[in-house]
Amino acid sequence: MTSTKFLPADYTQNLSSTSFSYASPSNIALIKYWGKQGIQIPKNPSISFTLDTCRTTTTLHFEKRDNHKENFEVKVILDGKHKPGFEAKIHQFFSRILQYMPFVKEYKFIVETTNSFPHSSGIASSASGFSAIALCLMEMEREMQPGLTDTYFTQKASFIARLGSGSGCRSLEGPLVVWGEHSEIEGSSDIYGVSYPYEVHENFRDFQDAILLVDQGEKQVSSTVGHNLMHNHPYAESRFNQAHENLAKLIPILKNGDLDSFIHIVESEALTLHAMMLTSSPYFILMKSNTLKIIEKIWEYRRETGIPLCFTLDAGANVHVLFPKNYKNEVQDFIKSSLSEYCQNNRYIFDSVGTGAIKL
Ligand code: PMV
Repeated sequence: MTSTKFLPADYTQNLSSTSFSYASPSNIALIKYWGKQGIQIPKNPSISFTLDTCRTTTTLHFEKRDNHKENFEVKVILDGKHKPGFEAKIHQFFSRILQYMPFVKEYKFIVETTNSFPHSSGIASSASGFSAIALCLMEMEREMQPGLTDTYFTQKASFIARLGSGSGCRSLEGPLVVWGEHSEIEGSSDIYGVSYPYEVHENFRDFQDAILLVDQGEKQVSSTVGHNLMHNHPYAESRFNQAHENLAKLIPILKNGDLDSFIHIVESEALTLHAMMLTSSPYFILMKSNTLKIIEKIWEYRRETGIPLCFTLDAGANVHVLFPKNYKNEVQDFIKSSLSEYCQNNRYIFDSVGTGAIKL
């Protein structure tokens, strides 16, 4: 699969719209992407649940520029406030996508954006944010080049989102998205995410994700720095192989609904991600003591009740608690009564698996 298929054909129509809006979801990886090469090419395949209520809503306003200056022209407004700090990121993104969407030079843009989750929650908004911008840009392209198929539209939107945020390419569709070539997953690609193409047992439908906000500050290690730690990492190659193996093991588990095996893989992936950071140079401990307390409590509760809940982690201290929908009441009560005290300001978010981005 090469990127050339995303080079644009001639644009035959002028744009009549002046803005597009999308609400794009966040996602939580079950098999983790950690380590990349080139511009956001993953060193191993990953799979994620798309979330439902944790979303970024973005309106992209655009207006033709009188003359083509060298630089891009973008203004970012987050929650109604001008945020010049984010504009450099969009400039870098535009320079990466320029050859695939040359029109970004011809317009001036206002990115008006807001997140459904609190800004300081420690939940990364870059995946959902770049997914929403990519979809708005694709709407522009579709208006200038009518007749694009829906498949091409979604693939290219995911391809473009990936150039802004790697995991952002998994934030367009739902409920399960694979990114990165895997020998047993037909259609899987290193350059865009695809909907998981095989049978999924009803145990995994409407899965719940409670996000426990243990540390709501800025990320201690940015994802760019984190991914770079996998270069020359002593365990990198075995980790990349393990991700392939774990994804292969997950295929029959997702089909037959084996929750115990699911839990084993998902928790192991989370701990391995953190183990990679514990053993890199420089090394980082991204868990907080409350992260560990929560994990112990989850294990104790699972042992005592037999309820098949598990945890996963991103590259930070927050804990995602995953569980089937039919245990929603019990697990939510358990979180409120026994886990919320370990969250910063007692904050947590109840979310569930969703179906993807929505055009507004
Ligand atoms: O998309 P990035 O560069 O922010 O990396 C995300 C990495 C993890 O969240 C830790 C794992 C994943 O697959 O989402």
